Amino acid sequence: MTTFTSDDRENAKKLVEEAPYHPGYEDAAMGNSLAGAEQQGDDDKDYKEALRNKDKAKADSTLNILNANFKYFGYGYMNDPHEAIPPIEPTFYSFRTMVGLGFWFVLLFILGLIFILRNKLDNKKWFLYIAIFTIPLAYLATQMGWIVAEVGRQPWVIQDLMPTMAAVSKINTSSVQLTFVLFAVTFTILLIAEIKIMLSQIKKGTNEGRVK
Ligand code: HEM
Repeated sequence: MTTFTSDDRENAKKLVEEAPYHPGYEDAAMGNSLAGAEQQGDDDKDYKEALRNKDKAKADSTLNILNANFKYFGYGYMNDPHEAIPPIEPTFYSFRTMVGLGFWFVLLFILGLIFILRNKLDNKKWFLYIAIFTIPLAYLATQMGWIVAEVGRQPWVIQDLMPTMAAVSKINTSSVQLTFVLFAVTFTILLIAEIKIMLSQIKKGTNEGRVK
């Protein structure tokens, strides 16, 4: 993931402002109009026509434009420099929450280790309570990390080359709904089974203290 500084954002803005048209793969090779620049349509047509007419010189010159702009490949899809800026707030706060929790876990482990080595863990009821309440925080940290990775990389699927808008799969809504329901049902059944097994084990209890 790339972390954007304010300088990066300024550069991204300048980049798109200074050269509003950068041909992307589809523009140059398939003649798709996505950048919204008037010049683009002509270039696409020129390139396709050059290919059709086997006009190597013209095809080469269009290809040269693509090669010269290759490092801006993905910017060809954007109409506004602001589209290159990721949502800063969710990334900022999620990252700090994740790292804060990471430090909290390390502190808790060190404390736990000290108590274990001193054979005092059983007496520290407050510590055991804190440890139990820390369990869900591990899930929270994971979710925050995922937000950092996924939101922080926007709008790119591949930095500078492929924006998210160009990578959206053409899947029917019904397919997504069907798999969602299937997963929801399967995992709910598994959850019920797991809770049943745990409850029956708890009812049985341990063998400790029992006379055999
Ligand atoms: C303690 C300090 C921590 C630091 C410095 C840190 C740093 C990072 C960074 C830089 C990323 C982004 C990686 C990328 O996409 O390039 C990340 C992602 C992530 N982090 Fe953390 N992290 C910390 C703690 C934690 C903890 C405690 C958890 C979970 C218990 C966690 C779970 C994750 C997850 C799940 C991702 C997303 C991975 C992905 O989908 O690619 N992190 N972390």
